[in-house]
Amino acid sequence: MSFTIAIDGPAAAGKGTISKAVAAHFGFAHLDTGLLYRAVGAKVLAGADPVVAASTLAPSDLEDDSLRTPAVAGAASEVAVHAAVRDALVAFQRRFAARPDGAVLDGRDIGTVICPDAPVKLFVTASPETRAERRFQELIGKGHDVTLAGVLDDVKARDDRDRNREVAPLVPADDAVTIDTSDLTIAQAVARAVEIIDQHRKGG
Ligand code: DC
Repeated sequence: MSFTIAIDGPAAAGKGTISKAVAAHFGFAHLDTGLLYRAVGAKVLAGADPVVAASTLAPSDLEDDSLRTPAVAGAASEVAVHAAVRDALVAFQRRFAARPDGAVLDGRDIGTVICPDAPVKLFVTASPETRAERRFQELIGKGHDVTLAGVLDDVKARDDRDRNREVAPLVPADDAVTIDTSDLTIAQAVARAVEIIDQHRKGG
């Protein structure tokens, strides 16, 4: 039987790391839904129409390493405000969530819009400063020319747009369990997520 784990939260809170680790732990498939919006954002930066780009997205579009740049992240957040773009991506995400081997989806609206009936919902968050510091280290490590202040500005601008858009804004589902990773190591955050999921799987 399918079992869906919905993991939402703002940029660089640790969602991706936790989602990958949880999927590996339970042997579930993992979909980083941010990649869908990033792939659309990248096509728009290259001149495409956002709705056409979303409607014609192919799985191979998600494997492009250049989706991990700050410019594409910003473009993703911008295309994500359009209802028609979001609608075009719903079916793919729901099909993935229904995989019989179990699925972990991470994004902004998984627990609220894409999989409102998911048996486990996590909201992974951290302070903007902590998230900016993590993203800064990650980008520097990849050789990007960024400053901590610039990354913090980007994180705050993206939070603002993701939280305040009219369609599917970033907000914890009523039945989501929040994990604040500001003062947790990766191992602690993953252990907490596994513990919460185990409780639900046992019917707790
Ligand atoms: O998770 P991420 O940073 O890769 O996401 C990039 C942008 O895509 C994010 O700022 C907002 C948008 N997004 C969304 O609106 N809904 C999702 N489920 C995932 C991402």
